[in-house]
Amino acid sequence: MTNFRTVSQIIEPQLALEGAGVLLRRSVSPRASNEHDPFLLFDHFAFNNPLEGPLRGFPTHPHRGIETVTYILDGSVSHRDSLGNAGIIGPGDVQWMTSGRGILHEEMPRRGESGNIYGFQLWVNLPAAEKMSQPRYQEVKSSTIPVIKKDGVTIRLVAGELDGIHGPVTEIAASPLYMDVKLAPASRFIYPIPSGHTVLAYVFEGTGEFSGEVVESVGMVVFNDDGNQLEVKSETGVRFMLIAGAPFKEPIVPYGPFVMNTVEEIQQTLADLRNGTFIK
Ligand code: FE2
Repeated sequence: MTNFRTVSQIIEPQLALEGAGVLLRRSVSPRASNEHDPFLLFDHFAFNNPLEGPLRGFPTHPHRGIETVTYILDGSVSHRDSLGNAGIIGPGDVQWMTSGRGILHEEMPRRGESGNIYGFQLWVNLPAAEKMSQPRYQEVKSSTIPVIKKDGVTIRLVAGELDGIHGPVTEIAASPLYMDVKLAPASRFIYPIPSGHTVLAYVFEGTGEFSGEVVESVGMVVFNDDGNQLEVKSETGVRFMLIAGAPFKEPIVPYGPFVMNTVEEIQQTLADLRNGTFIK
């Protein structure tokens, strides 16, 4: 039987100042209540908006216990880390970084030819058993992301499966679905979602009807766990990031760029940073 998941909440992103003074739109932030388990944070950066200041970026900072997922649509982010990795995340590229026990990295946004920087950063939790794992990167170039077009719907599939096609990001603990979905005017999108998985949709262009609820960009749609399919329709066109994954159902203690399971683990993280034992 088909049941469409209903909408529980539409979050209006709040402006937040991060890094060395980067203004961005934040719709989810790490909290002990872990409402969107396994997802911890969702930021939308859209520099060149008159609301926002000059480009600054994110100078060297640590992460432990999480995965950070950067998806760039315009402009780029140049990146360097304590493992010796360096590179540029360009338009359409994705970097899926599993911090595991720890990395120190720098993320510096650069304007593209259009003068804009546009993209998203998602934080995904790691289960207790993987929080102290080896750090790992999956760098995905735009050209290797499958683009699926069907009945007025265009999908860029980063992680997860659609019609037997798999996204290039694999072996992630949360079994995530991460895709960029664009509906042409007067089209409809149906997608099966396993029950128990958390589902979010970040609307960033146009207006769509999510299980009957009209959502205008920008906004984060949070779904109830009451069905096995998702339905999105649009009269005038809409574009959104569809994010889904299996919750870990573990207690979390977020502290800045670290998310661990206990206060003691956060204290250990801070001690490791002080003692120079954070990076091994
Ligand atoms: Fe970071």
